[in-house]
Amino acid sequence: MLKNKTIIDKLTVEQKASLMSGKSTWESQDIPEVVPAIFMSDGPHGLRKQMGEADHLGLNESLPATCFPTAATLANSWDEGLVYQVGKCIGEEAKALGVHVVLGPGLNIKRNPKCGRNFEYYSEDPYLAGKLAASSIRGIQANGTIASPKHFAANSQEYRRMASDSIVDERTLREIYTTNFEIAVKEGQPKSIMSSYNLVNGAYANEDSYLLRDILKDEWGFKGFVVSDWGGDNDHTAGVKNGSHLAMPTLGKNGTLELIESVKNGKLDEAVLDQRVDEFLTVVNSVDVSPADGTIDWTQHHEVAKKAAMESVVLLKNEDNVLPLDKTKKVAVIGDFAQTPRYQGAGSSVVNAKNLETTLDVIGNYPLTVSGFAKGYERGGRSNDQLVNEALALAKKSDVILLYAGLDEILESEGMDRTTIDMPKNQLALIQELAETGKPIIVALSAGSVVECSWENKVQGILHGYLGGEAGASAMLEVICGQHNPSGKLNETYPLTYQDVPFGKEFPAKGRYAYYKEGIYVGYRYYDTAKKAVRYPFGYGLSYSSFQYSDLQITKTGIKAVITNTSETAGAEIVQLYVSNPSSTLLRPEKELKGFTKVFLQPKESQTIEIAFDDKTFRYYDVKSRSWKTEAGEYKIMLASSVQDIRLEGQLQVEGTKPESTLLQPKYQRVALEEVTLEDFAELYGKQLPHEEATGQRLLDRTSIIAEMSQAKNPLARLVHRIIRSLLKRSEKKGKPDLNLLFISNMPFRAIAKMTNGMVSLAMVDEMLVMVNGHFFKGFAGLIKQFFQNRKLQKSN
Ligand code: BGC
Repeated sequence: MLKNKTIIDKLTVEQKASLMSGKSTWESQDIPEVVPAIFMSDGPHGLRKQMGEADHLGLNESLPATCFPTAATLANSWDEGLVYQVGKCIGEEAKALGVHVVLGPGLNIKRNPKCGRNFEYYSEDPYLAGKLAASSIRGIQANGTIASPKHFAANSQEYRRMASDSIVDERTLREIYTTNFEIAVKEGQPKSIMSSYNLVNGAYANEDSYLLRDILKDEWGFKGFVVSDWGGDNDHTAGVKNGSHLAMPTLGKNGTLELIESVKNGKLDEAVLDQRVDEFLTVVNSVDVSPADGTIDWTQHHEVAKKAAMESVVLLKNEDNVLPLDKTKKVAVIGDFAQTPRYQGAGSSVVNAKNLETTLDVIGNYPLTVSGFAKGYERGGRSNDQLVNEALALAKKSDVILLYAGLDEILESEGMDRTTIDMPKNQLALIQELAETGKPIIVALSAGSVVECSWENKVQGILHGYLGGEAGASAMLEVICGQHNPSGKLNETYPLTYQDVPFGKEFPAKGRYAYYKEGIYVGYRYYDTAKKAVRYPFGYGLSYSSFQYSDLQITKTGIKAVITNTSETAGAEIVQLYVSNPSSTLLRPEKELKGFTKVFLQPKESQTIEIAFDDKTFRYYDVKSRSWKTEAGEYKIMLASSVQDIRLEGQLQVEGTKPESTLLQPKYQRVALEEVTLEDFAELYGKQLPHEEATGQRLLDRTSIIAEMSQAKNPLARLVHRIIRSLLKRSEKKGKPDLNLLFISNMPFRAIAKMTNGMVSLAMVDEMLVMVNGHFFKGFAGLIKQFFQNRKLQKSN
């Protein structure tokens, strides 16, 4: 039964079809007096409302907004209340600026540290990512703004992001790549969700009825609408049929015409269209579209941004208690980031920060004796002896070096995966030179994702601020001088070197298929189970206090324990609950995160903490019955300060069943991932693996990406490809990769029709492909014909 039957009965097929795609880059379609248009804006860590020229890559200006720490940063706080607060501020700014839907949070699993968008995502662990996303959604939606968590699902690389097929075994898909979304949807109740660009096991996420209907709607009870990622609508009819409601940005009239035709020729049942319209209207008609009043409490939001950044700082090293800094010590402040902060990543999430602080501006407010500032290095990795010499001279007349270092802007961007996890060479060289002065070094690190820290033995203290948003500078200083005791813990593993990352050499997948060969062994699930040493484990972070764990009590419903602050400094501890089943007959990680809590304790204070078990604590996904099950057994219940620092443990007998399908694939059983071949993965996958077509010249189709013109039959197309590639290379050499060109070269042909406001139709794209495929004149004639036909259609009423 349709909820909006009275409205829908009065709509024509054309009106109904028109609602399924956007009216502009940021708005949905309206039907005057009946359905309002709703306005959407990025993004996850602050609003990017564009007023002038619209783009979805963060290239053009947007209105000033509070820039909060990015998701990767916030996740280090493990603080659901705080993430809620940040979400609430973003929801308030959205409301004040007339934005109805916030395109976030981003909660994809960090499968590999090189994914260019990891700074926008919470964690390598689905439980942590899901819980924080749910809090963010509740916060954003607290005042009626809609949250649109993204990108659903298994979207793990930027390369070929619109045309990459994530080949992932069913159990891994459910336990790792959708459990995060399950928690976010069930506990956050978002009114929208954004499907991802990629395909999952052969189907575009935006037209996958298994993901969108069976799992999202039927299993999780999602009541909102599904919006495609920008340009991510592949086959519009298939999208609508299989559960997507809104293709963005606008498709011009072509989207509407396509659906009308599909209803006529029976490809799309009108009843299904009605159902999608009904689901969409249920949300859209509940939105308050009254004019925005523009009132924002900037001061309060800046304070929230500061608190969020402060709670997210992770103390990675503190040799001989070099931190907090003694105010009598002369401090040399070194590093370009102290002058021009590194506080957010590049791409669609870019915020035009309202009140951006720099360290040099605010350092005077802190009890520190600053002996001077030296830039130390240039952005972009180039060496500069003069800057190094100035830094050395300053270091020599100081007692301690406070070095602001990390990744340059361009190393972390949407649309582009990282080529290395190393820090820029010139910064590494500077650390070496500074270390030779013998002065203690404290590094304040800015990077939204994992960096290799083999330089850690050259420095005495490391504070990792990730990307702290507009108030990151003062947040870091609060920690440096001890006004705030750090309590952040890493949301991801820092391997010793990139070579330790499973299948690291194959990332990002260059061809159509990205084989998720590591299965469930993602992040710490791999390192911990394979007993591989890491630099900093998942969940790790030091404090100026010390904590003792005692009195673990385990019942059927959860745990209790006493946490004591044994130090003289007040501080907070993030307590983590890990669970494992040592006698399992399934492939299972050594331990998995199943709960966490943060407790603040005065000096010498003790508190009893409680963590309840939930439906995720003992479950596994049974592939045979396609359902969640609990394996009977004696489970290990662990309370920990990081995945490698188990403080208390006990057992619990859990009732359940004996798994029918056990996988004894020996290499996976031994977690010997370096030996796993495609054949082994096929066994895990349980089906035949799709394979790449032969290389060399071949016919391209709508789903081929522009970069595949390198294999086109038409030499002109190959030339165009070479030109794009050389322009891209040139921009990369300049240290400023051209995001537009990158986007274009990774974009499938059909997206030309989906992102040009109706100016290009799919029929025109097909003619372009005829040209690319070697029949230039035939295609050209067809293109001209289709151009005029499309123009006529666009002008018709
Ligand atoms: C990104 C989305 C973003 C959208 C709109 C896309 O390129 O993948 O995360 O919300 O653009 O800007």
